[in-house]
Amino acid sequence: MELMNEQFRLAARPVGLPKDSDWQRTEEPLRAPEDGEIVVQTLMLSLDPAMRGWMNDAPSYIKPVGLGEVMRAGGVGKVIASRSPRFAVGDIVSGAPGVQRYWVGPAGDKYGGWQKIDLRLAPLSAWLNVLGMPGMTAYFGLTEVGQPKAGETVLVSGAAGAVGMTVGQVARQRGCRVVGIAGGPEKCDFVVRELGFDACIDYKAGQLREGLKQHCPNGVDVYFDNVGGDILDTVLTRINMKARIVICGAISQYNTTTGVKGPANYLALLVKRARMEGMVVFDYAERYHEAIATMGAWLQAGQMRSKEDIVDGLDNFPAALNMLFEGKNFGKLCLQVAPL
Ligand SMILES: NC(=O)c1ccc[n+]([C@@H]2O[C@H](COP(=O)([O-])OP(=O)(O)OC[C@H]3O[C@@H](n4cnc5c(N)ncnc54)[C@H](OP(=O)(O)O)[C@@H]3O)[C@@H](O)[C@H]2O)c1
Repeated sequence: MELMNEQFRLAARPVGLPKDSDWQRTEEPLRAPEDGEIVVQTLMLSLDPAMRGWMNDAPSYIKPVGLGEVMRAGGVGKVIASRSPRFAVGDIVSGAPGVQRYWVGPAGDKYGGWQKIDLRLAPLSAWLNVLGMPGMTAYFGLTEVGQPKAGETVLVSGAAGAVGMTVGQVARQRGCRVVGIAGGPEKCDFVVRELGFDACIDYKAGQLREGLKQHCPNGVDVYFDNVGGDILDTVLTRINMKARIVICGAISQYNTTTGVKGPANYLALLVKRARMEGMVVFDYAERYHEAIATMGAWLQAGQMRSKEDIVDGLDNFPAALNMLFEGKNFGKLCLQVAPL
């Protein structure tokens, strides 16, 4: 039976927030798999801030999506045809299907391409969150780059989001004082009550400086930065001697039309003999299994939470993606494409 595929392709390079006209909706028959290939039906897509960067024609850690190409996206799906010894029909897998209903191509190997996931450990959406790419980012970014020690103060922005929620929960497990920064009272409440952070500062209330003084009275030892811009600049005024700043992302700058704003207060790094270091999750691909084992056990023991915000329907992709840049997602943003 010939299946029809449906895709979202990049039609134009966006200026500022992506518009509907930056996308092209296409339909085409799905080709049959060749030797070593599989066909995956997309069940759920991961909508990530990084997707905005991949739409720009600029050098980065991964090549830009070309005009006319299917938009790149991570996701989970079901193997519906297999000519690879690695997978059987019915396997539930995680990989990068792109924004489309079906994916066909080489099955990949142990560290690249598709991987089987175990739904007994956690539900499907958690495999796009705590046990997926954002969770791996949080775990390795915090432990390897942030190197928190028990008793230290760890501050994280985007605290109610996918990466931020896991950073804070891992830091708690490490015995740190954990403070979040998030937008709005509802998100801050969730971070403290449900995730067990010691405090959360609502940056939209305009009291970040005062909040940092109140909730980080002994300064900041590790700052895990997801947002960049003015928040990073303000945090730099509160760092401790030998502080570690993990540059994970800068979502406040991704749609800028006037140039990325760098930190004016960077000399704090000199005064405090501190360091600021970037990280890219893919560098840790060979160690994902360690983080999955550790955090999977915490999830099962009820010591960790994975909150997702699931939008239904491939058609809603353009509007759903923009939710990230407007703070409208509450938890890891996922797009349900087909039922399990
Ligand atoms: N380096 C890596 O390998 C890697 C991997 C994954 C993700 N990342 C980065 O990690 C960061 C978080 O990603 P995520 O997937 O966890 O997204 P997320 O936090 O689940 O969602 C994005 C959140 O960012 C906040 N935000 C949006 N615009 C903002 C602004 N102008 N100022 C401050 N906050 C703003 C909003 O929360 P509020 O309502 O709280 O404002 C929004 O809900 C992003 O910068 C992303 O690029 C990096």
